[in-house]
Amino acid sequence: MNVLLLAGGLGPRLRPLTETVPKPMAPVGNRPWLEHLIIHLKNQGIKRFVIALKHYPEVVQRYFGTGDQWGIKIQYAIETSLLGTAGAIKHAEPYLDDRFLVVNADIIHDIDILPLLEFHNQHDGLVTIGLTEVEDPSHYGVVEQDESGRILRFIEKPPKDEVPSNRINAGIYVMDKEVLQYIPKDREVSIERETFPLLIREGMGVYGSVISSRYWKDMGTRDRYRQVHWDLLDRTLNLPMPGNPRGKGIWMGEDCEIGPGALLVPPVLIGNGVKIGERSIIGPYAVIGDHSTIGKQVRCAETIMWDHCSVQDGSVLNHCIFGSKTLIGTHYVLHEAVISRNGVMQA
Ligand code: GTP
Repeated sequence: MNVLLLAGGLGPRLRPLTETVPKPMAPVGNRPWLEHLIIHLKNQGIKRFVIALKHYPEVVQRYFGTGDQWGIKIQYAIETSLLGTAGAIKHAEPYLDDRFLVVNADIIHDIDILPLLEFHNQHDGLVTIGLTEVEDPSHYGVVEQDESGRILRFIEKPPKDEVPSNRINAGIYVMDKEVLQYIPKDREVSIERETFPLLIREGMGVYGSVISSRYWKDMGTRDRYRQVHWDLLDRTLNLPMPGNPRGKGIWMGEDCEIGPGALLVPPVLIGNGVKIGERSIIGPYAVIGDHSTIGKQVRCAETIMWDHCSVQDGSVLNHCIFGSKTLIGTHYVLHEAVISRNGVMQA
């Protein structure tokens, strides 16, 4: 069984960060989420990956290549037009095994794959949808199931008092290849809106099973992307932390220079090769990307910086997200600024 990672969406809700990289390459704790995901799946025995891409495929190909460095094999299915979540699966058909796993690569989770596969083996349907339970399902599409787990219908954003369950599609599927017969070629097709409802109408057996995962969050909006980082720093999201622990809630990479009087207020994650000038205060809730440079007397809280950023003396940052190589001049006061790669703010 191989796995297809869907990583080709435009990620409009996370703009401008997704203007130059596919959303799954956005770092989580200074490492692309896609890399965390691949390592997590590899640790459960998956060795063959297909990555479906459309938007900046070269960014992913350059980073992962053939996958050798991770001890896996990666093939790429690159689309020339946007095909949607089902169209992308159809397009990847030549690379897929008779049974395969599909994972939306922009969902942060630590799923155990085995129970989902076992559940799939026990029924005669073509698809098992991994489900997750949410407190307030009225913003999502919820599923109605019979007692065997067979999905009877999807209900989009039901009013609070009419929700049939709190189970929603977690963006992880086990599929048999016959499903591909139900997806038209060469046009945009949504798996959620078109293919699953069609399979249900045709009686092809679409089942759902609640995934075994300690964490599940769609990182697709700025607020959720920030929240994923705060959860990482609080360790409710238990991904490996790069860098060495330096006291409770402080992680620091190699070759950092911290100036006299500078203060790190936990929780903070400082990447490799970071320089922090004297009397700056970093944190709480700050993630500073590799090789970033922070001047003197900078204050930076609740902020995520990707790699190679530069913030000059006296600036105050609160609740910001900066793409790689952002440059902020002296004495800027920024609240909730989200800046794309190579962004410059300088008088
Ligand atoms: P938002 O609408 O901002 O959430 O962005 P999105 O473009 O990522 O769409 P969505 O969240 O619906 O996509 C779910 C997953 O499918 C993500 O991992 C996307 O990268 C992926 N995806 C969506 N559309 C396509 C597509 O046309 N081709 C490929 N290969 N992947 C897609």
